[in-house]
Amino acid sequence: MADSLSIKDNRTGKSLDFPIQDGSIQAMDLREFKKSSDDFGLLSYDPSYMNTASCKSKITYIDGDKGILRYRGYPIEELAEKRNYLEVAYLLLNGELPSKSEYEEWSHNITYHTMVHENTKQFLEGFRYDAHPMGMLVSSIAALSTFYHDAKNIFDEHSRKLQIYRLIGKTPTLAAYLYRHSQGLPYIYPNNDLYYTEDFLTMMWKPPANTSYKPDPVLVKALDTLFILHADHEQNASASAMRGVGSTHADPYSCAAAATAALYGPLHGGANEEVLRMLEEIGSKEKIPETIRQVKEKKKLLMGFGHRVYKNYDPRARIVKKIADQVFEITGKNRLLDIALELERIALSDDYFISKHLYPNVDFYSGIIYQAMGFPEDIFTVLFAIPRMSGWLAQWNEMLQDPEQKIARPRQLYVGYPERHVP
Ligand code: SDX
Repeated sequence: MADSLSIKDNRTGKSLDFPIQDGSIQAMDLREFKKSSDDFGLLSYDPSYMNTASCKSKITYIDGDKGILRYRGYPIEELAEKRNYLEVAYLLLNGELPSKSEYEEWSHNITYHTMVHENTKQFLEGFRYDAHPMGMLVSSIAALSTFYHDAKNIFDEHSRKLQIYRLIGKTPTLAAYLYRHSQGLPYIYPNNDLYYTEDFLTMMWKPPANTSYKPDPVLVKALDTLFILHADHEQNASASAMRGVGSTHADPYSCAAAATAALYGPLHGGANEEVLRMLEEIGSKEKIPETIRQVKEKKKLLMGFGHRVYKNYDPRARIVKKIADQVFEITGKNRLLDIALELERIALSDDYFISKHLYPNVDFYSGIIYQAMGFPEDIFTVLFAIPRMSGWLAQWNEMLQDPEQKIARPRQLYVGYPERHVP
């Protein structure tokens, strides 16, 4: 067979042909190789799933070597330039860009699900003033499941759509509320007259006494474009958490809480906050060589650099750099930008980083913009979670409708004690 793999088991002399489909073989076929009839058969060992496809998906395509990212076939550069975040969220969930009437219905449904139950305020009041916003967000998203018992009807398409509206609509409200709680400020309710991202910035920043407050439209557009860039990224750790928890048929709020928790990690979405702390610790261009030395000695990671898939420049990082210039026109340039640019220049010309294919990823410049916009560092990953909610829900929705999917339950290679008896 042309598209096939012939493998011979030298233990038994048995050979098998494996059909190659979509650039892969079926791992289950390896179980045919047995030393004896009662042998379990061969497993593939792939810690951290470095070379394992967990699913088939039509949502997002990444070519790590060429630095390509497409949502439903559309290049990220074109979506960032020509569409808004809600249109892109519709695209991720439905597979096509919305028509005018589809967009109006989609926007209406999300807008009218931005309010959260008043109990949420009591829930948030339980957190100390210095609680980390991501800890509050993970908890609040999980708590949403306690209000919507209908969310357990995950095979009812109408119920899934309703939970999708609720989660996309309410996540910015929760984010703004938990920020206002940490600042000791009163909550600002959503305003159904405002577009999604403008409404979020208003809930975040509106001074209670200032009834005419409006966020700067340039900043609204910049954040909306950043939301597009962060909306999905195929089978990253948090999307895998969403799919894994979803495969047990848990409700989507519990799945989204698990995904948000995975995003919190500093190797994943938490990196944007760590980049700022790293740049602040470096403090000046003169101290960059010392940092590079420590990285080479493996004493620290260069946060915002490297990627499991991209072995070239993250296409999102290029766009983020352009957005930075637009934001700094309004906010004034963030002094950390010069350190970041010099750090990138040095790293990209250094064989250590080149040989390991370490390029800036989406998190390297985003935090500099968020800080210039006035967001505190510990809210940066919350700003990642808001748009990624649509990507997580698209992955969850696709997984539930995939006939090849069942409960996610990897195997292991047991390397512990053989049977022994309690003395
Ligand atoms: C996101 O998966 C996604 O798509 C995620 C994401 C999304 O949109 O969902 O793109 C968002 O999470 C971006 C990544 C943000 N994280 C960071 O910026 C944290 C710093 N980056 C590293 O932790 C790391 O690059 C990862 C976690 C992103 C990727 O790790 P891998 O693929 O497991 O790579 P690795 O750890 O095996 O590294 C390979 C080599 C190692 O050196 P050697 O053992 O070969 O000598 O590269 C080195 C690593 O030490 N390396 C780094 C490094 N990243 C990798 N060395 C210094 N600094 C780094 N940042």
